[in-house]
Amino acid sequence: MLPSVRSFAYVGLVSLCVAPVSPAPLREAAQRSGILVGTAVRSEQLSEPADAATLAREFNLVEPEDAMKWETLEPGPGLFDFSQADRIVAFAAEHKMKIRGHTLAWHQQNPKWLTEGRYPPERLSQILEQHIKTVVGHYRGRVFAWDVVNEAFDERVAGKLRSTIWYDQPGVGHAGRGSSYIEDCFRWAHEADPSALLFYNDAEAEEVNPKSDAIYSMVRDFRRRGVPIDGVGFQMHISTLHPDSASISENIRRFVALGVQVHITEMDVAVPVDANGNPSSEDLRLQAEVYRQIAAACLSHPGCTAIQTWGFTDKYSWIGSHSHHTRGSALLFDRNYQPKAAYEALRSVLEQERR
Ligand code: XIL
Repeated sequence: MLPSVRSFAYVGLVSLCVAPVSPAPLREAAQRSGILVGTAVRSEQLSEPADAATLAREFNLVEPEDAMKWETLEPGPGLFDFSQADRIVAFAAEHKMKIRGHTLAWHQQNPKWLTEGRYPPERLSQILEQHIKTVVGHYRGRVFAWDVVNEAFDERVAGKLRSTIWYDQPGVGHAGRGSSYIEDCFRWAHEADPSALLFYNDAEAEEVNPKSDAIYSMVRDFRRRGVPIDGVGFQMHISTLHPDSASISENIRRFVALGVQVHITEMDVAVPVDANGNPSSEDLRLQAEVYRQIAAACLSHPGCTAIQTWGFTDKYSWIGSHSHHTRGSALLFDRNYQPKAAYEALRSVLEQERR
């Protein structure tokens, strides 16, 4: 005999009372504050069911960690390979995630044909223009924001541009003329997709310091002269458990006041790990507090519109090899995709309405 409707209702009520209420994933928690919550991913990760499921469940923004860099996208002169990046873009579309593109002009992860090609400035300028227009054109209407230029300022010489193939080695023809090569990149990207948001992205410029001062001057100049820049990305690779969050907040404030958006683009908080890769529980507690403070700093400025981490599981994080395995455990989920205290801290901030 079929159970009556009433007994169904009763069973339903009981299970409602006893089942643990599973907390909302990050992307749902962020609906109230309206901020985008994102992560970087490598295309191979999409083949792992636990990885793909976590990515789709938690994030509404994704950035290819390496798949849109020069060496991957243009492995030979004029020879483009979009296969890895297209895979991530298709995954994002399927799961209603926005895409940040990273990155069109950088001094690292460039192919040998480019770095060792001894091209004269004029030719190099054509190569860069063609790369930017081809890549941005390929993803026109699908990549909502681009890191057009990455890490152009030098941290060793305060406020100076880094000496790179694009600036002055030999450069694209503007050597010694400040940020004018960066301006070219923004104009080319804008021509290729006028609707994409264009960002300048950098490291170690999170706080008010000589490097962020120099970026601030450039962005102010670009805005005054109508160079198409929409935002600034602060990478936020943090390796201290006591960052100056007041200075970070003040820095976000001054950039937003220029009329650009701020994205936190590559956040991770590396902690010391033992030989087995394990951190101390006290450090994990402090790490959670860092995530909480940075997220709160971003949310306190309406123009800070995205928080993105550089990967999401400690199973795949660049920090291990980058620190020769002395640091790690920098992300929101452990190596078994279990949420850490950092995850709970971030979620609790995202859930709040913006003040
Ligand atoms: C890193 C990737 O995470 C690694 O997989 C790769 O081997 C090296 O680059 N700043 C950036 C990112 O803008 O592109 C870098 O990503 C990390 C530092």
